[in-house]
Amino acid sequence: MARMSDCTDPRFREVMTSLVRHLHAFLREVDLRPQEWLAAIEFLTATGQACNERRQEFILLSDTLGASMAVVALDQARALRCDAPSAASATEATVQGPFYWEGAPDLALGCDLRAAGVAGEPAYYAGEVTDTAGRPLAGALLDIWSGDGEGVYDMQVEGQGMTLRGRLRTDADGRYRFWSIRPTEYPVPTDGPVGVMLKRMGRHPMRPGHIHLKVSADGHVPLTTHLFGRGGRYLDSDAVFGVRDSLIVDYERHEPGTAPDGRRLEQPYYTVRYDFRLAPRSGDPTDPR
Ligand code: BEZ
Ligand code: FE
Repeated sequence: MARMSDCTDPRFREVMTSLVRHLHAFLREVDLRPQEWLAAIEFLTATGQACNERRQEFILLSDTLGASMAVVALDQARALRCDAPSAASATEATVQGPFYWEGAPDLALGCDLRAAGVAGEPAYYAGEVTDTAGRPLAGALLDIWSGDGEGVYDMQVEGQGMTLRGRLRTDADGRYRFWSIRPTEYPVPTDGPVGVMLKRMGRHPMRPGHIHLKVSADGHVPLTTHLFGRGGRYLDSDAVFGVRDSLIVDYERHEPGTAPDGRRLEQPYYTVRYDFRLAPRSGDPTDPR
């Protein structure tokens, strides 16, 4: 730690000093053996080697160790300290996960994210995006992604293009609406080193059904979050610790017929209503959010 005396970046020095201190304390606490340290290095090597354009095993490692969610929680606590009271009523954030794919198509409001033949029961999502004072945010961007009705993401299928992804903007009243599927529970990828780790830990790899959204608007703190279906399995044991009660929504089931947007459905469908609230950006120029 003393050898960092020439470090010119105080934040980097603070982080690295603490990292070294905690790492050494951990090694002493578990009395780590050389072959265990080698196994750890091999595990991290394999984790890096499992990463490619479509797979991010390190994010998965961070998620399954609860580190991603801890960082999200720290960010929210910081917002409460800096921007309170408005941050308290902002929609809660959760993990991004490894399946975000930048560059989803820009779609019209009310569009259907389902490509022909995609597995899953139809669900109509609608609501508004407001600031924390309840003022509608026109032109707010929703970047939406999910797996299909069997829990499979497009990125997990070799050669498949983007499916169940899209970006749309709220109307002049801050309202949004789109069709997608009712998500189902699914396992995080288990065919790599993180899957081996979970198994050795005696943990299941399941996530409760959810749809992902990034919601953003000029002058507001961008939000990365999910909506989870009420009553779904694994809400109390999400493999990545991402569930927040405020993000659990009702999927209201309807018999075939005319949907709220006038569309006729020949099969049962669901409706979901959820309003997103974004915190105004603090005036602090050093606030990286
Ligand atoms: C997901 O929801 O897409 C996800 C999040 C964390 C780890 C694996 C998957
Ligand atoms: Fe997901």
